[in-house]
Amino acid sequence: MSISLKPLVNYLFGPGKGLVAADDKPDSTNKRLEEFNIPETLEKRTRYREIVVTTTNIEKYISGIIFHEETLSNTLSDGRSFHEVLRSRGIITGIKVDQGLTLLSRSSIEQKTNGLETLADRLLDYKKFGAQFCKWRSVFTIGKDMPTDECINENIKIFAKYTQIALQNNYLPILEPEVLTLGDHPIEVCKKTTQQILLSLFALLDKENVDMSQVILKTNMVLPGTDAKIKASPSEVAEKTIGCLTGSVPHNTGGIVFLSGGQSTLEANLHLNAICQVKSLPWPISFSFDRAFMYPVLKAWQGRKENIVRAQNELLEVTKDSSQALQGVFKP
Ligand code: G3H
Repeated sequence: MSISLKPLVNYLFGPGKGLVAADDKPDSTNKRLEEFNIPETLEKRTRYREIVVTTTNIEKYISGIIFHEETLSNTLSDGRSFHEVLRSRGIITGIKVDQGLTLLSRSSIEQKTNGLETLADRLLDYKKFGAQFCKWRSVFTIGKDMPTDECINENIKIFAKYTQIALQNNYLPILEPEVLTLGDHPIEVCKKTTQQILLSLFALLDKENVDMSQVILKTNMVLPGTDAKIKASPSEVAEKTIGCLTGSVPHNTGGIVFLSGGQSTLEANLHLNAICQVKSLPWPISFSFDRAFMYPVLKAWQGRKENIVRAQNELLEVTKDSSQALQGVFKP
């Protein structure tokens, strides 16, 4: 029997609260650890996530944390499981359930997301670790003749199946179709591409009678490519992002969270702040940042025990900034 996920949606979008995405695949986490000369080991990956879980007062700004399967069953040194510690502080556990990407074809550089075959069984298993919501990511590259219709169609079909399996198993699904910022394209191209993908995605979900109020969209902000000659101000990013989303995301969708997509922590918060200064948006808005939170923490931590408190203070500070951005009152 399926249950209403609306209370969970409302909880996750509580005032001034958002999500921490601590769900990188082991090899992605390793790359980030390497940037700070921290050993690329399971032990260090776990310690990073423990820093997040044990940061005092983080529940003031965070309603949920998304983990990778690798972390879900972890425990603290006192034996308590991560999810029990989080639950006692009112933070909901989520789980990344896609299992990486494969090339669409041998001649393509575009990718589709894997993991549907085992999804239902894994969701059942993840319940034991307190997971209540889940996340599925696909990536779209902007380039010559890209993204192709094939890439969009293939990935949105997968998203639709993922959504149905998640809902059947009483998980709140987050759908994350990420348009990468790599490239020299102007902001308009990002807007058009993001909108095209979202329109196709929501048309398919609608055709399959998905109740949009029980679905969360995790999306990129609309930005110029990282190598674009013309940069965009926060107000332009906000205007283009909102224009894109109001034109493509059904107004009864549960909510929208933003990924940070390789922006610096400051950029991500400035852009979020500008978006949230726009009044009367049809859906609740929040953040679900990974790198924008992870980098300042790794920088402070450096993999050393004696720096843990400093790293946690840093995390508290950046999540507080994002919380203020949600209220449109962030001041760098
Ligand atoms: O899968 C990607 C994360 O959910 C978002 O990561 O904030 O670093 O873009 P990001």
